[in-house]
Amino acid sequence: MNPIASGASPIEVARLDVPATDVITFDSHDESIVGRNTPDPLRFAFSGKTGPHVGGGSVPVAQSKTQDSVLDALNTPAMNKARCLYIHIPFCRVRCTYCNFFQYASSESLIAEYFAALTLEIERKSAFVWTQSMPFQAVYVGGGTPTDLSAEQIKQLGQMIRQYFPLTPDCEITLEGRVNRFSEAKFESALEGGFNRFSLGVQSFDSKVRRAAKRLDDGDVVIETLQKMVRYNAAPIVIDLLYGLPYQTLDIWQSDLQMYLETGVDGVDLYQLLELQNLPMARLIEQGKLPQPANTATKAEMYKMGADFMARFHQRRLSVNHWASTNRERSIYNSLAKTNAEVLPIGAGAGGNFNGISAMQHRDMNAYIEAIQQQQFPVGMAFKSDPNNASLNQFKAAFDRGVLLKHDFIPWFERLMPLFEAWQLRGLVTITEQAVALTQAGQFWSVNLATNLIKVIQNDQANRLALAG
Ligand SMILES: C[S@@+](CC[C@H](N)C(=O)[O-])C[C@H]1O[C@@H](n2cnc3c(N)ncnc32)[C@H](O)[C@@H]1O
Ligand code: SF4
Repeated sequence: MNPIASGASPIEVARLDVPATDVITFDSHDESIVGRNTPDPLRFAFSGKTGPHVGGGSVPVAQSKTQDSVLDALNTPAMNKARCLYIHIPFCRVRCTYCNFFQYASSESLIAEYFAALTLEIERKSAFVWTQSMPFQAVYVGGGTPTDLSAEQIKQLGQMIRQYFPLTPDCEITLEGRVNRFSEAKFESALEGGFNRFSLGVQSFDSKVRRAAKRLDDGDVVIETLQKMVRYNAAPIVIDLLYGLPYQTLDIWQSDLQMYLETGVDGVDLYQLLELQNLPMARLIEQGKLPQPANTATKAEMYKMGADFMARFHQRRLSVNHWASTNRERSIYNSLAKTNAEVLPIGAGAGGNFNGISAMQHRDMNAYIEAIQQQQFPVGMAFKSDPNNASLNQFKAAFDRGVLLKHDFIPWFERLMPLFEAWQLRGLVTITEQAVALTQAGQFWSVNLATNLIKVIQNDQANRLALAG
């Protein structure tokens, strides 16, 4: 998954426009902020996850000024050293029932047309001063299903990335996708092109769960393919597992976790199923063709099973939902994009931020290709990044890691203490002299906690402004 981020540095947290000494005010009875007072906060602190990522506020750029503002940003040398490149491939062979990322069905001719436009965008964007002024530390080719590109296209894309963009010597270059039709020839082609990390969606190894979710290939094929890739010993392979899918019982989830270890892959992301509106899954459930997926309390139980399993097998925790089995897995893109990095977006539906501009590129294929052909930036919406966003991103990143260090958040650590204390009373965090660490319940609710903290800060600022005005 591509977390869209905007720039920040630790010192900037203090820039939020509030006197450093004041303790922040909030409604300490508002359960949507402080959580419910329950003996079982893991399952019941909140009623549901607020969304996949934490939101933030930015000011839209007028449509008539979008092109100029992107041009200005790219014509100015970079200020921030932390930077990544994100390239989007919006195709999948079949839409999975639970997925909101699906854009276009893979068709050879449409992919070829898209690839030609993408090549032009890479050539053009790479030539700007901003792009060339510093090396990129991580590149993520995500989707959709980038592994649905042909072997030749994958190799060419890797080569273009290396040829056109300045990269750090240890730059992580990830290809996202799935094992379906990701043949050894394609894998070798990707390695030849210079990809050095592979992030593959598995979701579940159980064939019944997979078929109900419209996943291609049965579990045994997935395991075999992953093991083959691991045997190459060429690059870290990481997988995504989803919990809460229809038919995925606790026993099946336990065996999904076990299978992760048996494949020998380098790392795993455990995502809770988000039931977004308008997903094919919702319709199938309504028609009685699929059973209800797990409720929030059961998903909390599944998270606990996952986190306990990883601890029991001494997996290295990289974030509240990502673990590594080897020291080869670094997950640089994910950790940078969630914190203080700038992200240059390329491709239809890609989002990113650079030099104070956040840009969301056209999702619509025709609009994207037409913009490229007319030598325009294929940007649908652009926002001027709020300088406060940079600071708030520091908080989001800390919640994603599972710990807020006092030393990163001076003077905020003290200012927010009443909120931390309310959370501690509810079993969501543990406060020590130097840090606020999320408990396991807090880790499960990490996105809610981050969203709430940001809400509290923003409300407090608005109240102060109103009083001052
Ligand atoms: C954009 S998808 C790309 C993965 C790849 N195309 C595949 O087939 O696995 C990245 C990940 O998003 C996660 N995802 C998709 N739909 C989700 C949902 N409704 N709730 C939570 N995570 C979801 C899945 O775990 C998936 O592996
Ligand atoms: S999980 Fe992957 S293959 Fe399935 S619809 Fe989503 S992006 Fe496409």
